[in-house]
Amino acid sequence: MDTVYLNGEYMPKSEAKISPDDRGFLLGDGLYEVTPFYDGVPFGLEEHLQRLMRGLCWLRIDYDTSGLESMHRQLIERNGLEKAERSMVYMQLTRGAAPRTHYFPEGDVTPTIYAYTKEWSRPSDESWSRGFTARTVPDRRWSRVDIKTICLLPNALAFQAAKDAGADDAILVRDGVAIEGAHQNFWAVFRGTVVTHPTTGHILPGITRAVVLEEARAAGMVVEERPIQIEELALADELFFTGTTGEVRPIREVDGRPVGHGRAGDVTRHLSDLFLERVAQAKASEGVEAR
Ligand code: PDD
Repeated sequence: MDTVYLNGEYMPKSEAKISPDDRGFLLGDGLYEVTPFYDGVPFGLEEHLQRLMRGLCWLRIDYDTSGLESMHRQLIERNGLEKAERSMVYMQLTRGAAPRTHYFPEGDVTPTIYAYTKEWSRPSDESWSRGFTARTVPDRRWSRVDIKTICLLPNALAFQAAKDAGADDAILVRDGVAIEGAHQNFWAVFRGTVVTHPTTGHILPGITRAVVLEEARAAGMVVEERPIQIEELALADELFFTGTTGEVRPIREVDGRPVGHGRAGDVTRHLSDLFLERVAQAKASEGVEAR
């Protein structure tokens, strides 16, 4: 499991060396993507790479992304994960190593690209059905979190605050609005209407979120992309998160108060099933049977 990719080469993780002058290390000047693989088949890789390209454009990092799909597939293969039910590739791209300045370095600087793989698992059906707990935490991030930068300290502090309070996850709140989770998008269901925050600079436009939106609409559900006020949380029939390694994840309790019936709700379950069907379709398109 220890073959990583660094700047064009595959190597054991113990041999991967990054300069202390790397602007990712010094300034958080970089981007990342986490792409899921199911039985060795990528899910949404093109969309993940498109999001990366938007970020590169915004940060003015000149990098040719054409080899990244093959790098992802090779890394999975070299780590023997073609048959792993769930795995992922974490990829990080920074502006590169240069003497520390607040402005962009002058002259040619080669971006640093690093990637590794990891297996992950879905919770048991029993714990999924029981649902997960969340804690509201102030959103102290900047106003361009739609760019997937590696500057995740506010996310980590929010997640830690939720963990310290005994909850499984955080719901970030800004100006009275429940924005998203520390590493997942956030959704509510009110009398059958499925609601999630619109794609502004205040949320990460999740690839999982886009798939679930598509599926919800295709299934004829009423869908609204609008801010969810914290006062509404008590009125919601169901709440859930979506994200790469969380898939569709029901929330049974927020700040110690039960949500709806206090278990995974029917709409959440339906959307989770539709999401998993999309995964099965992606596998079938590469000739991999559903389990
Ligand atoms: N997190 N919102 C935030 C703040 C996130 O960090 C993520 C992803 C998402 C969901 O996006 P997607 O569906 O594309 O995974 C929403 C990644 C997985 C992470 O930090 O590990």
